[in-house]
Amino acid sequence: MDVQSVRKDFPTVRNSDAVYMDSACQSLKPDCVIDAVMRYYTEFPACGGRSVHSMATAVSVGVDESREKLAEFFNGDAPECFAFTKNCTEGMNIVARGFGLKRGDAVLTTDVEHNSNHVQWIQMAEDTGIRRRFCKTSRDGVFDIEEFKRSLSKDVKLVSLGHVSNVTGCTVPLKEVTEIAHDRGIPVLADGAQAAPHLKVDLKDLDVDFYCASLHKMLAPTGVGMMYGKMDMLKALRPMTGGGGIVGLTTYDGVKISPPPEKFEAGLSNYSGIYAVKHALEYLERIGMENIPKHEEMLQRRIQAGIEDVKGISIVGPEDPALRGGVFSFNIEGLNSHDIAMMLDNMGKVMIRSGMHCAHPFFVSRGIDGCARASVYIYNDESDVDRFTGLLVKIADTFA
Ligand code: ALA
Repeated sequence: MDVQSVRKDFPTVRNSDAVYMDSACQSLKPDCVIDAVMRYYTEFPACGGRSVHSMATAVSVGVDESREKLAEFFNGDAPECFAFTKNCTEGMNIVARGFGLKRGDAVLTTDVEHNSNHVQWIQMAEDTGIRRRFCKTSRDGVFDIEEFKRSLSKDVKLVSLGHVSNVTGCTVPLKEVTEIAHDRGIPVLADGAQAAPHLKVDLKDLDVDFYCASLHKMLAPTGVGMMYGKMDMLKALRPMTGGGGIVGLTTYDGVKISPPPEKFEAGLSNYSGIYAVKHALEYLERIGMENIPKHEEMLQRRIQAGIEDVKGISIVGPEDPALRGGVFSFNIEGLNSHDIAMMLDNMGKVMIRSGMHCAHPFFVSRGIDGCARASVYIYNDESDVDRFTGLLVKIADTFA
């Protein structure tokens, strides 16, 4: 992977001396994606799937092509198995609320989930009496397959796991998890928000029943996500939102719901974003998904070497850089994580995220009140990492 050539494709990298290390939140966008959004607005800013005039047809074709690209990129069963959502959270909610869990049925998650795989279960426990089971991870958030097997109680009707943690960067062995769950007849839903941008995700190989991701974390425009499901699962899933676009004929007292994926895409969509998805995924294909983990591990090892002189630093997550994916979460004794983030930005234009990262239960259960998190992606190079760790040395020496 030629990172210097990649950097030239991102206007916010080539036109600025700032360093962006917040890609776990949202990735930067390359020229080809920005051009696609511009093309939509300047050439065919109409709606898809409804009108038959030529502008609308261009949109419908663009949406179809992005869906076909998703199926090819993720090796899913068919394009119709992919619904566009506004983000990963929306997909996770569609599955949770449409799956048909009843009072007394349980969902099994880990104890390091993002709120995208947490809040809806709490609400459903209150509203419909479903149960929540937790598979405990180590203090560092590392998943344990034996603990997972022990956690699969008889009432578990759905396993719902984050594929990669947005706090620790740890990866769950999803294929193994799915095999174990399927042996007991339990379907699996995965939150792939932090995995899909960084790993080669082969849905047929993983054999998961549902997989959701945020495409805006993988170079596509903001506000586009996807929900994948096996066709028989999608057919059985009740749509969360009613409205136009998801129905055939409606009468005063009845509706005929369309087949997947339309049944999950009520109302007008984010067409500029969806149109650009194909261009984002083509860009990632040119990079080669298999090259991304190697690049990120190289940067993680450099971070590890660079923090040796940072007084009072502690890592949140595994010490082994190879287990952290693109994420480096940490604290510096005596400093608040938001202060660290602001100092990095003000002193050296390095942008990271701070706080509890929408994973509050993980922090509360470990007695930590948050952390700073630097996250790298394909456009970060050694100079970015060196600026980041150099500033951390200064910050710790001066303020901690
Ligand atoms: N889930 C995103 C993050 O971890 C927003 O930053």
